Amino acid sequence: MTLAYWTGTYLPLDDVKVSPLDRGYLFADGVYEVVAVYDGRIFELDAHLDRLARSLAAIRIDPSLDRAGIATVFRQLAETAPRPAATIYMQVTRGAPAQRSHVFPAAAQASILAFAGPLKRLSRAQQEDGFALVSAPDIRWLRCDIKSIALLPSVLAAQNAAEAGALETVMLRGGLVSECAASNVFVVKDGRVATPIADHRILDGINRRLAIRLAEELGIAVEQRDVAEAELRGADEIWITSTTKELAPIVRLDDAAVGSGRPGPVWRRVRDAFDSLVGRPE
Ligand code: PDD
Repeated sequence: MTLAYWTGTYLPLDDVKVSPLDRGYLFADGVYEVVAVYDGRIFELDAHLDRLARSLAAIRIDPSLDRAGIATVFRQLAETAPRPAATIYMQVTRGAPAQRSHVFPAAAQASILAFAGPLKRLSRAQQEDGFALVSAPDIRWLRCDIKSIALLPSVLAAQNAAEAGALETVMLRGGLVSECAASNVFVVKDGRVATPIADHRILDGINRRLAIRLAEELGIAVEQRDVAEAELRGADEIWITSTTKELAPIVRLDDAAVGSGRPGPVWRRVRDAFDSLVGRPE
């Protein structure tokens, strides 16, 4: 039985009943978060709560649960979350008014759904082999900083990667790298690390921020700036970061090897620092 939180109550996920008029269902009018839980410990909860608050404010949803209340939901679900590693998904929508209308309803309580599931960490052996990445145009909107549940372009990009046997699709816009379907991108050239700046064009990933911090603690400066497609294709190393993929080394991009074709030394140092926080995967 998977336990869920649904707008004020805890119940089995299978018993959650959502109105067909819920604006999440009709308009994708909502935002979400995914947090990792390692051995029952929620990873970087404050950063996720901050980002959820920013997403909610950006689309003017009042979740009718304050920060402490939202944190309590995550903590409750973490208690029974799968071990050794899990994710907790939470989405907040603008609720289910009596009628469908694009305009915000005068009165509708936000709907909050949350539940945990297993996180299958990428193993050491998989990491050592490295992963493939494919590229595609970024066809998304211009508020990618909001963690919106309107994910169709990301779904198509993820499917494109799966069909190509790749871990992710990196999205390109105007000759620049934005991010992947559900992760951020880092490039390394001659020991210098760069990652796209976190403005309206990408989601400011929690593991992106963490990778920057860990690199800097190791004395490796990370430039946050526009990254050209040519830099991606000429990189010595590419890594991607996300809550679910952690810090994954890319050894192929489309039909070409990345750098030496093996995970690189800069990735390895930051990965070791990451694993010292959360424990090594199997
Ligand atoms: N996705 N960029 C996009 C578009 C994302 O959807 C995500 C996360 C990230 C990485 O963010 P973080 O490091 O905070 O997980 C970047 C989650 C995992 C998902 O949709 O399942």
